[in-house]
Amino acid sequence: MPRLADGFVNELKDRVDLYDLVSRYVQLKKSGASWVGLSPFSQEKTPSFYVHPEKGFFNCFSSGEKGDAITFVQKMENLGFQEAIEFLSKEFNVPMRYERGGPDQPFSNSIRADLYALHELAKSWFEEQFALQNKESSVAQDYWLEERKFSLETAKRFGIGFAPTDSTALSSFLLKKGQSPKLLQKSGLFRQKQSQGKFISLFSGRLMIPIHEKLGRICGFTARKLSITPEWGEKKSPKYVNSPETPIFLKGQLLFNLHLANKEISDEKDFLLVEGQLDAIRCWEEGFKTVIAPQGTAFKDTQADLLRKSNPRRVVCLLDGDEAGKKAALSYVPIFIKAGLDARFATLPKDSDPDLILQSKGPEALAEIIQKGLPMIDYVIAQKLGKPSLASPNDLRKTSELLFDPLSELDSFVVKDGYLEQIARGLSLSLDSVKRDFSRFTKNRKPRRTYAPPEELSEKESSEWSQRLTSVEDDLLYTLLHDDRLASPLAHALDLAWLDLESSSGRVLAKILSEAVADGPLSVRQMEDLLEGDQERRAFQKFLYHDTVSHEKNALLQLANQCLGVLFSRQSKRNEQDLLTIIKNCSNDPKQMNGLRKQLKEIRTQRNYPPSLISSDSEHKPSHAHN
Ligand code: GTP
Ligand code: MN
Repeated sequence: MPRLADGFVNELKDRVDLYDLVSRYVQLKKSGASWVGLSPFSQEKTPSFYVHPEKGFFNCFSSGEKGDAITFVQKMENLGFQEAIEFLSKEFNVPMRYERGGPDQPFSNSIRADLYALHELAKSWFEEQFALQNKESSVAQDYWLEERKFSLETAKRFGIGFAPTDSTALSSFLLKKGQSPKLLQKSGLFRQKQSQGKFISLFSGRLMIPIHEKLGRICGFTARKLSITPEWGEKKSPKYVNSPETPIFLKGQLLFNLHLANKEISDEKDFLLVEGQLDAIRCWEEGFKTVIAPQGTAFKDTQADLLRKSNPRRVVCLLDGDEAGKKAALSYVPIFIKAGLDARFATLPKDSDPDLILQSKGPEALAEIIQKGLPMIDYVIAQKLGKPSLASPNDLRKTSELLFDPLSELDSFVVKDGYLEQIARGLSLSLDSVKRDFSRFTKNRKPRRTYAPPEELSEKESSEWSQRLTSVEDDLLYTLLHDDRLASPLAHALDLAWLDLESSSGRVLAKILSEAVADGPLSVRQMEDLLEGDQERRAFQKFLYHDTVSHEKNALLQLANQCLGVLFSRQSKRNEQDLLTIIKNCSNDPKQMNGLRKQLKEIRTQRNYPPSLISSDSEHKPSHAHN
């Protein structure tokens, strides 16, 4: 993959007017030098989404999202970094520039773009196989037309295909089309192990259903078993085989049929959530165009966020009438509440599914079932308590607390109050007691803070600090990005082993600091080059565009010192803990014991001397610099 030319990302950002970009998605009003509108990332009634075209960044106070044009496109269009750049380059007519080669480099070169292209080819090939006049293909056609009673028109609309039992045919085709073996390896369409140097398809003798991402690009397949599907040796092969996770197939970020449902959705229409892909196709065929389905896995909060972005009136869930269906429904409720989505639950008759109902009784019957659905709060109460009037006071409390938990994470008081009213009504309790219990519940929740703010900060600054504060790595990254004098001394004073590398801020810090040791301070551009993956980019941008807490000259230095101290003492305590465990396990060797005790004493003494960065007028030096 050719690298983007040095400086191209900045050139692109300079040439994209953030106002032009954002106003395609959000209605903006002038506010001083900036623009303001309703947040596209959360449901709000008072505008708190600010755009600063001159500075090239946006700041959303309700959701805490902030960033530049690239971040914005990534979020709105659900794209990776490289794809967002491609998107902006196309939309704003800024031709891509690459490190080597001239301006006529092919337009898109990311691995993700290549994978989409490969999936498109594979889908067309599966479609061709489906249409062939041979024995195998006619099994697939009969299954689709006769057994499942779907139409050819629907097959065309959804790109239905057939994977023949010859499991090397697909790879031969793709390689002949010039797709690289490396890409085939990454596509998820083939087994990890090759057989006699050949790529073996994951799908053999199956009906192929393409899965599209939000913008309609094919990112994976789900494949239904047929009568000719080979079994897996001794084992029966499963009813459905899905693409594994790949750079473009992230199950938690996808919903089946969302690209088509989105064309129909509006704030007056509901999404219809069903469990199976073929159920979704049937619903769509029968006129329920806003139907969507999770990818055979549990419904996740990331998927709820996807739905909320489309701004539907609500989501109606059609769930199996069995115990599993009820359990699933209850697990969806907190997800919907936290995402700010209104939902209803409609229960299907036992041993039935939307497909069967539509086939046997028609669309009116399904509409009636949907009509009988319950609002989610009422559904939870009905499932947990049956008739609330017969429930014990303790059960009432348990049920309300079940709902308090997700409610406490909501920002909007209006929405919170709305739910509390529903809870009070549903449980036949007074609104006042429900509100009082809720307020006590939120107070008793553990705060998320992990360590105390520096003592030197004023009250206002500490409150800003505690709002911002998530982890010491976050804060240190923040100081590093806002005071470029800090990188070198920090790189010397801090041991990278002290950082939590599970967190994206921790990883970004480790990368920046290890480069800084080698090469001196880095430019923002150089730092950006070190980032891998969306999480790291988001962490980086979140802190890069965060307004500075205080403009006092040494505030960032103080903050950095505080962080350094916390990291140092955290590590020191870990070392102590490790040592104590060793001591506990070797209590009968006095000589060794003595040595260990000495080490322990040293650790404890050293803890009183945390490293710190000293300020002088022009530069900072670590207190125990080696030079
Ligand atoms: P049909 O039998 O084709 O009508 O499928 P269905 O959608 O009615 O199937 P079912 O209710 O059994 O399952 C619902 C969904 O769960 C399916 O659409 C799949 O997404 C998923 N699923 C079912 N069986 C399997 C399986 O064997 N493996 C995997 N990975 N997913 C499955
Ligand atoms: Mn079914």
